[in-house]
Formats: sequence, C-alpha cells, structure tokens
Amino acid sequence: MRTPLVAANWKMNGSREFAEQFFAGLDLGGATAEVAICPPFPYLPLVGEKLKGLGVALGAQNLSRETSGAFTGEVSAEMLQDIGARYAIVGHSERRSLYGESSELVAGKFIAAQAAGLVPILCVGETLEEREEERTLAVIGSQIEAVIDAAGPGIWNRAVVAYEPVWAIGTGKTATPEQAQQVHEFIRGQLGEAGAAVQILYGGSVKSGNAETLFAQPDIDGALVGGASLDAEEFAQICRAAG
Ligand code: G3P
Repeated sequence: MRTPLVAANWKMNGSREFAEQFFAGLDLGGATAEVAICPPFPYLPLVGEKLKGLGVALGAQNLSRETSGAFTGEVSAEMLQDIGARYAIVGHSERRSLYGESSELVAGKFIAAQAAGLVPILCVGETLEEREEERTLAVIGSQIEAVIDAAGPGIWNRAVVAYEPVWAIGTGKTATPEQAQQVHEFIRGQLGEAGAAVQILYGGSVKSGNAETLFAQPDIDGALVGGASLDAEEFAQICRAAG
C-alpha cells in the first residue's frame, strides 16, 4: 500500500546555526515513515549533508519552470537535482497568494520537476471564503485539472499531493480529520487509476497532538508540516505518529 511520508517545510526560516542545532537534536528513532526536509534554498547543501546517513530526503520549497538561462534569481529543477534534492514543493498557497502563481505556472513547475527526476509535492487547497461558499472541491479540482491539462493524466506515479486548507496554515485551526478525509478522498478520485498509490499529505497546523487522529484516516498518507517542523522533537513525534 502507500508508505506514509512526513515532509518539513521550513519556509523562510533557519540559519547555519539553526540547522546545526536542529540536527543535533533530531532523533527519528521509532519512525518508519518516509521523511523529507525542505529548507530555504541557501541551506540545501548544508542540510543535504546533514541528512546523509539519516535516510531522510532533501526537498526544495519552490523551483523555476525554466531549465536554464536569463532568468535572474530563479533556481532550476536540474540544479536542485544536482545538489541532491529528491522533492520539490510546487504551488504552495503562499506562492499562489503572495507571489501570484497561477495554476498554469504551477503545472509548468510540476512538469519541470519531473523532467529533472524530482518528485513534485503539488499543494492544493481552498481559502476560508471558498470553503464557506462550498467551493472547496471545485477549487481543488480545478488546481489538479490544470496539472492534468498541461502534463497529461499519466503523471501521478512520480508525484505527491498535499492538501493544505489555506485557513489552517499557520493559524492553529487544523481541519478536522473528517474534513481532511473528505477532501483527500476527492483528490484521490481526481487522480484516476494511479490515485490509489499516490501519497496524499495533509498540511495546516499539524502538531504532535493532532497528528495521530489525522493519520488514522484512510486517505491521509502523512503531512506537510510548517511551524512544528522547526522543533526537532515535535517534528520527530509527528514522524513517529505517521508510522
Ligand atoms: O507547507 C506546510 C505549511 O503550509 C503548513 O504550515 O505552520 O500550519 O504547519 P503550518
């Protein structure tokens, strides 16, 4: 069946000193889930070195849909693969809302990640307004459809999807296990035949205190963790709760 996956999204947090202290205190003993850590770009090589021997994968928080050339400030999928990344988060709601990333641009990044041999973690999710207007499944369906339109239906065997309700990110207001399960089941259906094998993660105020009840849901295969992933012990507890 599906191996649980817990990925840390450090967002724009950290430093060399933070990374040294984090890994000095990280003990993943007892965790059988797959684990990934996605630091800010400058710390990818340092964190990559720390992960060697831990059986933890390196991931990036974003990437360019371009492969190389005159794109000042951009980072290509090939560069990320070159320095040992396995995953790349694409379409995080903060990129969509703060930096105007459209679903079409996200689809281009998804394709670029796979073309370089990375596994994209496609983030989808609705705002509170969209949920209150009962548009959650329509919004998420559209975000997934944009990727299928651009890349074709047969691309999910090398991808991860993360459901991150925007209203639960960084707010402490986690979706209930039932709310999350309903959306995860919908997402899995949208992925077609390959859907049964795709890891679908939940993200949005995951903590050690709520992880177990979330992971008990049949279509929740792990978590994409923000704030709680900056605390080594809290993050390790979430990893252990995943399996
Ligand atoms: O990508 C994960 C992130 O958006 C969730 O953040 O702080 O609610 O766990 P947080």
